[in-house]
Amino acid sequence: MRTIELKGEKVVMIDQTLLPEEVRLIECADTECIAEAIESLRIRGAPALGVAAAFALAQTALKNAHKPAQEVLSELEKTRRRIAATRPTAVNLHLALERVMNRARESPSPAEAAYREALRIYEEDLEANRRLGEHGAELLEDGDVVLTHCNTGALATASYGTALGVIVTAWRQGKRLRVFADETRPLLQGARLTAWELVQEGIPVTVITDSSAGYVMRTRGVTKVIVGADRIAANGDTANKIGTYSLAVLAREHRIPFYVAAPLSTIDPETPDGERIPVEYRGREEIEFFNGRRIVPREAEVLNPAFDVTPARYITGIITEAGVLTPPYEESIRRALEGR
Ligand code: MRU
Repeated sequence: MRTIELKGEKVVMIDQTLLPEEVRLIECADTECIAEAIESLRIRGAPALGVAAAFALAQTALKNAHKPAQEVLSELEKTRRRIAATRPTAVNLHLALERVMNRARESPSPAEAAYREALRIYEEDLEANRRLGEHGAELLEDGDVVLTHCNTGALATASYGTALGVIVTAWRQGKRLRVFADETRPLLQGARLTAWELVQEGIPVTVITDSSAGYVMRTRGVTKVIVGADRIAANGDTANKIGTYSLAVLAREHRIPFYVAAPLSTIDPETPDGERIPVEYRGREEIEFFNGRRIVPREAEVLNPAFDVTPARYITGIITEAGVLTPPYEESIRRALEGR
């Protein structure tokens, strides 16, 4: 399954808002369509957002390739600005824009350079996730009961997935696993997407409400927690879907190892610590309504942070394509990025 592809001048992606009931592709012919798809979470997950951003620039490059270099660059800059304004937390999106723009700016043929760099980002994501799945699978044992949050599967990346990719890789190696998937309020990526991917793979999955996690850790023999990341700061502090921080604290209380799985492209060496990670706040309507029905009085205030930050001290290891990084993270992260 390919979550997102560049076909000619069209960016084609699975509309994740329709899952699990319907698998429908959307075809974006312009930047605005891609920006809308990102904002409404038709495409989501940090690595997939990096690829979507890169493809938005590739598409602009292809459409304007016949124009003089200066005009191509100014069209690319318009696309960059629009996509950068969609979602702030997932650093893959912002680093992909920067990478493609830098290549375009330093090349005499910016359109071709942008196109090539975008494809490289896509291919690197495939390869990084495949490798991190293998490193992570070594940590899983036959019989493990794994709790995960949000969706970190093939749908959240170019393919393979991160935390879910680790689980799938271990399963394909013959390890018997059970998975508890948090439903992940308010947009239910765990219930709708993670459970769907695991069912396709034949891996036993039980969906729980986010607030059941402590009870399930206590009573259902959870042996590992594995989650993804939207941005990892230079000191290992990790932003991920809202609710991740609570899971990490609960895992510590229950002495359950807590792993983050992410490609190196999710590490932001320019952000020194979690305090400096921008957290996206989304609209109140995502919480106010359930199945189209109002569940919060109009007069009540609503707070809807899409992410939280887990301090590095709660993280047992960060699973990457370069291996499993362990504390002290300043050092292991620096070494991994240098070796890239
Ligand atoms: O709001 P979303 O669905 O884009 O949030 C996604 C997550 O928080 C994932 O855990 C993270 O991006 C890692 S995906 C491999």
